[in-house]
Amino acid sequence: MSSKEGRRVYVSRPIPEPGLDLLRPSCDVEVKPTGDMVPHEELVEKVKGRDALLCLLTETIDEEIIEAGSDLKIIANYAVGYNNVDVESATKRGIWVSNTPGVLTDTTADMAWALIFSIARRTAEADKFLRAGKFHGWSATMLLGGDVYGKTLGIIGAGRIGAAVAKRTTGFKMRVLYSDMVPNEELEKEVGAEKVDTDTLLKESDFVSVHVPLMPETTHLINAQKLAMMKPTAYLINTSRGPVVDEAALAEALRNNVIAGAGLDVYEEEPKVHPGLLELDNAVLTPHIASGSVETRAKMATMAAENVLAALDGKTPPNAVNSV
Ligand code: DGY
Repeated sequence: MSSKEGRRVYVSRPIPEPGLDLLRPSCDVEVKPTGDMVPHEELVEKVKGRDALLCLLTETIDEEIIEAGSDLKIIANYAVGYNNVDVESATKRGIWVSNTPGVLTDTTADMAWALIFSIARRTAEADKFLRAGKFHGWSATMLLGGDVYGKTLGIIGAGRIGAAVAKRTTGFKMRVLYSDMVPNEELEKEVGAEKVDTDTLLKESDFVSVHVPLMPETTHLINAQKLAMMKPTAYLINTSRGPVVDEAALAEALRNNVIAGAGLDVYEEEPKVHPGLLELDNAVLTPHIASGSVETRAKMATMAAENVLAALDGKTPPNAVNSV
């Protein structure tokens, strides 16, 4: 019997090498060679006879895939969010599901700030303006934005990432509000954050940054009614999951200046983006890259691989989100 027997791993898309380097010595690893999305029917075939699946957030791991992967010990998701995996079905079949928490917190928080600055100070729009040859000299009224310092930042969901975004206000003299089901006392002590209900946060914040997991209760949490509560000078930032915001309602609100702008890294039906958003200058749009630093993506790969190895060794994966 080969030493790699019972250690057949399918990786649904290329991931940074440090993760694969961990797996290869003791596992029989197949990596989908191209970076495009693996079609569902192909994934159903690929999981057959595999002991582990290392997948990306773009793959919907539903009951059909889980049933086809009858030898799977683990589904290791290369992301902290795992709304793409049917955890209940996996649990019923005794399959671990793991994620990559912690390692991407600060990188994602940095990106939320990149969007805050970019939308408030119009950097994406200004870059386009300059490249289009429209910069004909300094002007007192050219491309005026909103200040960031001294304003109120509202964090919806003060977990790991939301708290890291809030902590970055140090030095910007900002008031910090947050809404969450549980108080975050550390955040209150560290930056004087005040816990308020979501409606108060929407009404009083100049920047609203969303950091909740995608669940039935958070789908379209930000809808037309909630957008209407925000100040007309306020900005919405979303680096969590697209469906948390009703994109059609947001496009409409931005077009009618119900709010001043939005910085978005995630979309309801990725890779599609609501066409209404694409037309607007008061939206900064990035393609789901919040965790996308070289260092962090390598750490995510290592973490996902460590979870696979633990499950194949019959141990509890360090980042299991279920118990089997
Ligand atoms: C995640 O991990 O959930 C992000 O969306 C991608 O890093």
